[in-house]
Amino acid sequence: MAEVDLATKQDGQVVTPWEVEADGEEGIDYDKLIDRFGSQRISPELIERMERLTGVKAHPWLRRGIFFSHRDFEQILDLYEQKKPFYLYTGRGPSSDALHMGHLIPFMFTKWLQDTFDVPLVIQMTDDEKYLWKGDHETNTIEKFYELGKENAKDIIACGFDINKTFIFSNLEYIGHMYPTIVRIEKAVTYSQAKGIFGFTDSDNIGKHSFPAIQAAPSFPVAFPHIFGNDTEPLCLIPCAIDQDPYFRMTRDVAPRLGWKKPALLHSKFFPALTGSKTKMSASDASTTIYVSDTPDMIKTKVNKYAFSGGQVSLEDQKNTGANLEVDVAYQWMRFFCDDDSVLQKIEQEYGPGPVRAGNKMLTGEAKQLLISTLQPIISRHQQARAAVSNEMVETFMTPRTLKFTR
Ligand code: TRP
Repeated sequence: MAEVDLATKQDGQVVTPWEVEADGEEGIDYDKLIDRFGSQRISPELIERMERLTGVKAHPWLRRGIFFSHRDFEQILDLYEQKKPFYLYTGRGPSSDALHMGHLIPFMFTKWLQDTFDVPLVIQMTDDEKYLWKGDHETNTIEKFYELGKENAKDIIACGFDINKTFIFSNLEYIGHMYPTIVRIEKAVTYSQAKGIFGFTDSDNIGKHSFPAIQAAPSFPVAFPHIFGNDTEPLCLIPCAIDQDPYFRMTRDVAPRLGWKKPALLHSKFFPALTGSKTKMSASDASTTIYVSDTPDMIKTKVNKYAFSGGQVSLEDQKNTGANLEVDVAYQWMRFFCDDDSVLQKIEQEYGPGPVRAGNKMLTGEAKQLLISTLQPIISRHQQARAAVSNEMVETFMTPRTLKFTR
């Protein structure tokens, strides 16, 4: 398995589907990750080619290097150019009913890809995965994760996916349809390979050992007979955070042996926690996490109180040296959520490193205020969209059915 290598602690940082930890305040070293995982950088040329073919300006997250790495995305563009079929696949592990801003990122980006390329999309809710990893017999029951999946589906639908082109499924419910695909994958991966890629140990339950085949299966159109029939042609494109890459390195490794095409990938960086970019944001610490259900006042209070500042402690120092933007959470979050390049530039020039150039040096409080007024409308729009998602809509999105697409 040449492409495959467990992310170990060898160079100080850990990136696996279950653990993300940097070795310093500046966060993960993504260049090292590309080298270690063996993926490709998303180059300006690749972005230009995409813009040329689609006639659509690249999403800010591509332009700003937030989606920074890929596997075989050129092939997707070739197919698009030749008007040949491909589809999108992403997913969510429904571990809590409170989604935070970081959880929306893959879905907001996938929505943009669906609009730009006009292709079908499948979304896997890994309720089984969450039970295998976090379940018990009292509170974290299998039923609970299934219900959380349905609740989370509302937030996902609220991102604006096209009901005619999108299939959302709970693994617990849909598994039988993809079981032949799963069994083929299971047969093609040995125990020692799974241990090597995922770091499983002898005391991990056997469900964990075979789960990777379940996350791999939707990468192949044969897992969706109601959408693709038995057409093996459509290539799969998976937008995901880079911590999910081990699953898809395994998937790409087995694909040729099963006579299937390797899925293509677009990898994102992690969304930094409000309290600093050392780890990705976790849903568990309520006071320091911004949820998609927070009120405008809560957003304001949390940003002001907890957003890690890269600004200098004294006014004098801030005027002379400026903020360290690499670690400044207000700026880093603006790179995610402020579409207007000129506002970002203003922060870079007036708040970032270097002495006062023109006018006043911006202080941390002002940078935070810019973030607050950017987040508030995005979150209230999301809340309105979510309130408009009915149970019937969820049922429709989650019913196996034919999808309407042109290529
Ligand atoms: N394992 C992912 C999680 O815990 C969920 C997931 C399933 C996923 N399939 C995916 C994420 C495909 C990205 C792409 O969140």
